[in-house]
Amino acid sequence: MNKLALVTGAASGLGLEFSRLLAADSYDLILVDLNSDGLEGVRHDIESTFGIGVEVQVADLGKPGAAEAIWAHIWEREIDVLINNAGFGLYGFFAETEWQLEETMLHLHVLTLTRLTKLVLKSMLDNGSGRIMNVSSLAAFQPGPLMSVYYASKAYILSFSEAIANEVKGTGVTVTVLASGWFKTNFQKTTAINSNVEESNAKLHTATAGKVARKAYKAMMAGKTVVVPGFNNRLMSLAPRFIPRKTMTSIIRRIQERLRK
Ligand SMILES: NC(=O)c1ccc[n+]([C@@H]2O[C@H](COP(=O)([O-])OP(=O)(O)OC[C@H]3O[C@@H](n4cnc5c(N)ncnc54)[C@H](OP(=O)(O)O)[C@@H]3O)[C@@H](O)[C@H]2O)c1
Repeated sequence: MNKLALVTGAASGLGLEFSRLLAADSYDLILVDLNSDGLEGVRHDIESTFGIGVEVQVADLGKPGAAEAIWAHIWEREIDVLINNAGFGLYGFFAETEWQLEETMLHLHVLTLTRLTKLVLKSMLDNGSGRIMNVSSLAAFQPGPLMSVYYASKAYILSFSEAIANEVKGTGVTVTVLASGWFKTNFQKTTAINSNVEESNAKLHTATAGKVARKAYKAMMAGKTVVVPGFNNRLMSLAPRFIPRKTMTSIIRRIQERLRK
């Protein structure tokens, strides 16, 4: 019998790439996303290419009770890999952005991710094995003016994941957190639509989703805790250790302001 993996935000971008990597390693998949058409397309594509079993669940993970609703469908099965990947961006001054989007973002990035991790982690610990990957961002390492809630929510994911990675050491279960820089997906379009600004700056896209997913997947399978793909991104992740936080925040403000142009 194949092993089983659960991926959120699997209908496009990074989640789709993770799903293909898992399928290539003969994992059966439970794919969750808001986008039902996208999910059906991915199911069809992956099943016909890799010959593994794919189940899809259409769910808004930005709503209360979303993690429990997924768990109600899967609790009897052994989940070998959980990838909490679903996420979106919102650009603009905090005083002007839409609360409804921020509330959804906080549910998605913080509450649903945490709850799903707790539910799956307990059964992984009972089985003495499992891999969890939470998708954070390079945004996690410092405050981010003009994307304040996004940066703060990704900082939560980094801190939470590092802490529980430490707690589960030696159990056979590992927790990995991906803190990637920019790569081109629907993320830029969604962020722009959410903010009523033009499409975000293409110059910032230095990697493809496929490349980021491969690096992160390898790190997760090796049981590493934090993965920051790309040399420049690793330097960026280290900068807050040497540059005063206030200065770092001003630097990020300048970078973020360029997204409007
Ligand atoms: N792209 C980057 O530059 C970048 C950099 C660092 C970190 N990340 C992180 O990488 C992760 C994946 O993003 P991506 O770049 O692959 O973007 P993407 O192509 O937009 O993929 C995100 C997926 O998550 C789904 N999703 C969004 N809100 C959801 C919700 N409430 N419930 C269920 N599914 C939801 C989206 O569905 P819909 O299409 O229906 O909205 C989409 O399929 C995110 O956590 C993002 O923060 C991205």
